[in-house]
Amino acid sequence: MRTDRETIQALSGRLLELTPRAMQLLEDLTLTESEASEFRSTGFLTVPDVLPATVWVRLAEHLLPLLCSISIRVGLEHRETSATTLSVGATFRRVDPHRIHEPDVRAKMAFVLDELGLTELGSSLADLLTPLIRRIVGPLSFRHCYFYIYEEGDYVSIHNDHQVGDRVDVQFPVSLNTAGGIRVLSRGYMQMRYDVAGSMNVLGSRVWHEVPPLLRNDANTAPRRLNMGLRFTPD
Ligand SMILES: [Fe+2]
Repeated sequence: MRTDRETIQALSGRLLELTPRAMQLLEDLTLTESEASEFRSTGFLTVPDVLPATVWVRLAEHLLPLLCSISIRVGLEHRETSATTLSVGATFRRVDPHRIHEPDVRAKMAFVLDELGLTELGSSLADLLTPLIRRIVGPLSFRHCYFYIYEEGDYVSIHNDHQVGDRVDVQFPVSLNTAGGIRVLSRGYMQMRYDVAGSMNVLGSRVWHEVPPLLRNDANTAPRRLNMGLRFTPD
């Protein structure tokens, strides 16, 4: 029987082959001119068909219980900030050693990510995709990889991430047993961008966005959403 690391390594190897469409984009970066202009105007862009979808779904299904067991639950309560405004609220699970202040907890989470081969997967994927990200956004470099997990009812209300500076998050969300996604402010409205396994979201820090509550489609099956993120910052 394969260990978790062996299974993850086998699926990661196939994931890193990317799709023919991604290889074509990487070979001829001029193909992305329209995508670069969309990112400049909205601060958000989806590039479809970057990762092989069935491999990514299988890997996500394998990772979810493992990552859940080392995750930190994020609970950000809404507060009334005036008679007409409410602060940002959120509930979800985070696996991101860079967001943990306690050295022991941080080291333990980083160790598990290393052991499972996920630190390596993140940096290998970032190495492959950096030319494309730079073509779309400009001179940026990969910093680290993180994972967010959403269970039934989890959400992040409308916010932007201006407080973290000009970071760009490159995300690979996958929703299981539900139609999940992200909403982004574009041309005056919050517009739904559904998760499609294998698509790559490029999320600037100043775009207004939210993760709608994860809804149950089926009485017997819990919805889940995994988002693998690669954090890039300006050079
Ligand atoms: Fe955000």
